[in-house]
Amino acid sequence: MKKLILSILFGTLLWSNSFSQVPAHVLERTQWWADARFGMFIHFGAYSVPGRGEWVKSTEKMTTEEYQKYIDQFYPADLDAKKWAKLAKEAGMKYAVLTAKHHDGYCLFDSKLTDYKLSNRFDNRDVVREFADAFRAEGIKVGFYYSIIDWHHKDYPNVGNHPQKDDKEYGKRKFDWDNYLKYMHGQVEELVTNYGKVDLLWFDFSFDEYEDEKWKAKELIAMVKKHQPEVIINNRLTQNHGVSGNAREFSGYGDFETPEQGVPNKGLITKDGTPIPWETCLTLNNNWGYNSFDNEWKSSELIIHTLVNCVSKNGNLLLNVGPDPRGNIPQPSIQILTEVGEWMKLNGESIYNCGSSDINKPEWGRFTQNGNVIYAHIEQAIVGPVNIKGFAEKVDHISLLRDGAELPWEKTWWGENSNDNVFINLNKPIHHTYKMPDDIDT
Ligand code: GLC
Repeated sequence: MKKLILSILFGTLLWSNSFSQVPAHVLERTQWWADARFGMFIHFGAYSVPGRGEWVKSTEKMTTEEYQKYIDQFYPADLDAKKWAKLAKEAGMKYAVLTAKHHDGYCLFDSKLTDYKLSNRFDNRDVVREFADAFRAEGIKVGFYYSIIDWHHKDYPNVGNHPQKDDKEYGKRKFDWDNYLKYMHGQVEELVTNYGKVDLLWFDFSFDEYEDEKWKAKELIAMVKKHQPEVIINNRLTQNHGVSGNAREFSGYGDFETPEQGVPNKGLITKDGTPIPWETCLTLNNNWGYNSFDNEWKSSELIIHTLVNCVSKNGNLLLNVGPDPRGNIPQPSIQILTEVGEWMKLNGESIYNCGSSDINKPEWGRFTQNGNVIYAHIEQAIVGPVNIKGFAEKVDHISLLRDGAELPWEKTWWGENSNDNVFINLNKPIHHTYKMPDDIDT
């Protein structure tokens, strides 16, 4: 009898929908990813042909027939996943996530469940396989983005952001939701069984009542974990519930949260104050999918500051590239990622395996920390010595991360001698100079 009660209890715990603390098994399984901190998002699909972003079918209310011309023109002859992987490696990225299927429903992978796929018209090439092989070869962990929304499947209703949302005739069709779920679950099963070890799954996205068990999410996750016991899954099979400030319930439907196009004020925490694994996803211009007219590129400086911002709050950065219809990553993106990579080569130690610091944010930048090493990121030129408060008694030594050279420091400056101050002379003996060793982040 006791045994029975225990196992019933265990069963309920296992399937609880939300937690006030992040369960230990989630922290364990996400550890490699939290150590990695920096990943590449790749939005690639037939929508690169119109070049107006991956939502073009929806924003321009195209029918599937109208969209077909872009499918017909989509032939990424230059596609070389090895080049993508080399770029990610150069930039210091440790994991990558490719859109195996986006909302338009057109598959980059050779799904047996549909003919609506690139492999049919691309010499049987399976882009998802090429991606996985190339990135693994560079030592980069592999993730698949999969849209649970589908604007092409006949049994997916015209709800949410569907291109035919306002089309009354379309709405009169019979939609067999169970049949769609069978298809969706089946495709996910293909992704987790046909491509070797999958490190990460990125589902997109839930809205209105389309969340949780509407997707049969528990069954989906159980199936995924049967095939890939170590995979980590984002939180978009559900929506944020029970949020107040930065504190929220931790959803039982995934392992990490995914703030989009911005960095939270503080790290995300549960109501008990324990940190929730999270990752900001961010575009390099203003679009996920390729857009030939969007030239509003973020600077490498802004990207580095954003990465540091995330890490200083225990978060990751998943940075997007949108290859053009021929399969090339746009030159401005290559340029930015290369510059970020140069900084990472000298300073990556302050990013990987790091998280938030015990010391509060200073006025000149941010702190990250790994064990008893604190990294002071000086993000703006300042005159005179750099002041840090709050741990003077604990300092063993202070050095410049980019070369390991000692930095002279004192506990006093201009009469301030509270015993709790560190004043670092970046340029002794000429410490009135303001030229930082690295303009972006010293
Ligand atoms: C949104 C968009 C989608 C994009 C995703 C990335 O959910 O619908 O186009 O892929 O954000 O986070």
